[in-house]
Amino acid sequence: MRKVKEVLLAEDLIDYDYKEEDRFKLNHTAHYGFIRSLCSRSLTSSVKELLEKRRGFENFVQVGIGGSALGASASLSFLKGGFFNLLEGKKYFALDNLDPERLALIFSFDLDKTLFHVVSKSGTTTETLVQFFVIMDRVGVKRENFIITTSKGSFLDRLGEKLGIERFYIPDEVVGRFSVFTPVGLLALGFFGFDIDAFVEGGKNGVRAYRNGWSFPNRLVEFTIGNYIAGKEMLVIFPYKDRLFGIGEWIRQLWAESLGKEGKGQTPVLALGVKDQHSQLQLYQDGKKDKAFLFIDMPSCCNFEVKNDYGAALFDRIDTATLMDIEKRSTKEALRSSGIPVCEIFIKKADEFTLGNFLISFMIATAKAGEVLGVNPFDQPGVELSKRFTREALKNA
Ligand code: PA5
Repeated sequence: MRKVKEVLLAEDLIDYDYKEEDRFKLNHTAHYGFIRSLCSRSLTSSVKELLEKRRGFENFVQVGIGGSALGASASLSFLKGGFFNLLEGKKYFALDNLDPERLALIFSFDLDKTLFHVVSKSGTTTETLVQFFVIMDRVGVKRENFIITTSKGSFLDRLGEKLGIERFYIPDEVVGRFSVFTPVGLLALGFFGFDIDAFVEGGKNGVRAYRNGWSFPNRLVEFTIGNYIAGKEMLVIFPYKDRLFGIGEWIRQLWAESLGKEGKGQTPVLALGVKDQHSQLQLYQDGKKDKAFLFIDMPSCCNFEVKNDYGAALFDRIDTATLMDIEKRSTKEALRSSGIPVCEIFIKKADEFTLGNFLISFMIATAKAGEVLGVNPFDQPGVELSKRFTREALKNA
């Protein structure tokens, strides 16, 4: 594990290109529940200990939804690549849509070698429990195939205890979408051999850096919420690399569920780099001017030189990574030239430490954005209502 004591190392990990503004006069205090969860000393060791006992498993299935899945999925694709399941080696799936076709796919695996991580903070989420029950029907109640992460004393906790399944707990003060530094995210990362100590250390480093004046989270709020107040009702999250798409989904949830309440909230929209230049850019460039743009990029993890023996002079001496970068810069320039607000976050390294730093910084920014908007970023009354209606409909079904 990397031992890092310096506090301002964060600047070596993430670049951002927003204007220095200070209209909200944000300070650098951050004492949120999700930050306190970083300090649980024995947590990473107990996660590693349990995974050591489950070494023979080849597939990891996260049975959870929303905040109980997106952080783990985003972190894995950031570190392993957008399409790593197509490569040799261990596979990962998240059952976060209740579509029976996903379950059918999982059931085509060797179930004896499949580890199911059942995650639910409330321990009562219908989609998660129902899939868990269907899986147990198939697999049998083999306790070594399951790990549960939930709140102490929840229905799922009590059920796990009865079935003899090992359990981890999410601290009360940590909300689902802010829980990636608890076993909710750590188990998946550890299963795939990533250094979860470095990941947590990166998170701590992000907090230290922020408290010591690192301005990334506050500037992010200045850009996003500043533009929201100026009429940019939508935030287009525009990751460029495939491995950043999961991070885009994680940000979309964090932004929507934390800030969208009491008639307020900036609608997050997700687009993917060059692909969506040929799909949505027409609207962005030429449609209603109600959007601000958050580009997210990182270095290309591989590259190919274009050998041009085919008479296309424009492509002489080019390579795929450079071309992608040119396309991104041109798109930003085109948007800016139409007066559209654009900023970019550039994550400099694809490692655990940098990821931890980035995720915690974005969570701090989200919490601060909630303070500026005057909403509680840590509840989700709209989601709870839909859950309640589903349960009532089930009673009458
Ligand atoms: O962020 C949140 O709180 C939500 O997205 C929850 O994670 C989601 O609704 C699932 O809830 P639970 O973890 O209780 O199953």
